[in-house]
Order: sequence, then structure tokens, then C-alpha cells
Amino acid sequence: MRDVRDYYENQSRTFEQSAITDEHRRIAHIITSISGFSDDTGTALELGCGNAAVSAVLADRGLTVTAVDFNAPAMAVARSFAESRGGRLLPIEADFYTASLPGNYTLIFYWDGFGIGKDEDQLKLLTRVRSWLAPGGRAVIDVFNPYYWLQKHETSATYQAANGNPWERKIQFDFRECRMVDVWTNLDDSSIPPRSQSLRCYTPADFSTLASRAGLNVLGLYTSNGEEIVGGDEKTIQERTSFLALLG
Ligand SMILES: C[S@@+](CC[C@H](N)C(=O)[O-])C[C@H]1O[C@@H](n2cnc3c(N)ncnc32)[C@H](O)[C@@H]1O
Repeated sequence: MRDVRDYYENQSRTFEQSAITDEHRRIAHIITSISGFSDDTGTALELGCGNAAVSAVLADRGLTVTAVDFNAPAMAVARSFAESRGGRLLPIEADFYTASLPGNYTLIFYWDGFGIGKDEDQLKLLTRVRSWLAPGGRAVIDVFNPYYWLQKHETSATYQAANGNPWERKIQFDFRECRMVDVWTNLDDSSIPPRSQSLRCYTPADFSTLASRAGLNVLGLYTSNGEEIVGGDEKTIQERTSFLALLG
């Protein structure tokens, strides 16, 4: 896990913004809408929260939110968000495979990042999710979509870092392992080594099998805009980087 943590900490140092934006409010709205979470008084857990901006939005709505990440620079921002939220945002700097958490959460979510490691790692995490859910609780997991990433094989795009430097992101798709691989290169400074990560992509069928091995059921599939994916959407699904799986 050390390599994974180094990757994310470096990405946070390069790209992280420390503001809560409309995008975070949009994500918070989608997660609560699809999970049917309407009373805004329960307890939630965000896994791989980054700077916990989405959790901060939920805390502002009245939920008590535990936000877990092992990424030190991102968690420093999360702690600054927690300061003004009267104990409703609880950042925990820890590895979610080993963190000791009280459980009994009515909502658990992981936005952007599920799929690091091997299937056994994902199974371990989903098994922990199941153990942390309150009776009747729901989990929302953002799952990388192989039908999208396959089409992006060998493509690249340029992104601007917080300091203005241009970075190239090159995508590859490992067909055998069904993994999206991205390689980031600083175009202005060749002394900085490129960074890479890979994420396992799951078809809905494969994800459902994995979830059921963890004792969870897929209750619905949604786009990242919160629209339910139903029969007939097949032609547009290839345009989606990921899909949201609602679990219970
Ligand atoms: C792509 S970022 C997404 C952050 C945030 N969810 C967002 O959408 O902005 C994935 C996050 O997962 C975290 N992460 C990955 N593996 C983790 C682990 N084993 N334990 C805790 N956090 C982890 C990384 O540090 C990183 O901040």
C-alpha cells in the first residue's frame, strides 16, 4: 500500500484544491438521493475521502460523517474543514483495510477510487463495508467502467497543476486484467518522475458477483449524474467513466 499512498499524496500535492465547490455539493446530492437518505440526521462513512469536501457538505446538512483516507496532505485539508463543523465531520487518517471503526453507519460511500489492488482486496473492503453498515443501511460505490476505459486506450490529455504546470495524463487499458492504467508526466520538468496507478474496472455482472461474495446485494445502478441505468441505455453507457452501484 506504500506505493498507492505515495501516488495519491503526490497527486494531492500537485492538484489538490482546498475549496468546497459546486461539484462537491452535486456529488453529495447524488449520493444521498440514490441512497434514499432524506432525513439528514444519520451517520455516514466516506472511504477514500481525499480532502473530505463531500463529507463536509453532508456535515453541513446535519449528518455526522466519518471521513477516512491515508493521504496526509489531503487529510490536513480535511481537518481544516472539520474545525468549523462542531464535531459533525470526523476525519480519520488511516488505511481503510485496517482502520478500526465503530460501524453502524446508515450510509457508506466511496467516490472515485474503488478498484485499487486485486479482487481479493476489493472483496476485503466490501466485506468491511457490510460489517460497518447499520441494519437497512446503504452503500454507494463508484465503479470504473471497462467499456469506457477500453476506448480510451493510448489516449492522452493535458491537465493544469495547482502551480500552473502542465501534466500529461496517458491512459492505457490492460485488457487481460481489465484495469485502467494512467501515467502522469510533468511536461515542464523532466526531473520529476512520471507517476502511475492502475484501477480494476468491473462490468456490472462482475461487480455484482464480488458484492454478493461480501454478503451485499446490488440494489440499483446509476450514472454519476444520479440517473438510474435501465435497459436501453447501452448505447450511452460507453460514454461514462464509471457507474454507481447502490448496495444493501
Ligand atoms: C482518486 S482519490 C478520490 C478522493 C475523493 N473521493 C474525491 O473524489 O475527490 C482516491 C482516494 O482514495 C484514497 N485511498 C486509496 N487507498 C486507500 C486506503 N487503502 N485507505 C485509505 N484511503 C485510500 C487515496 O489516498 C485518495 O485520496
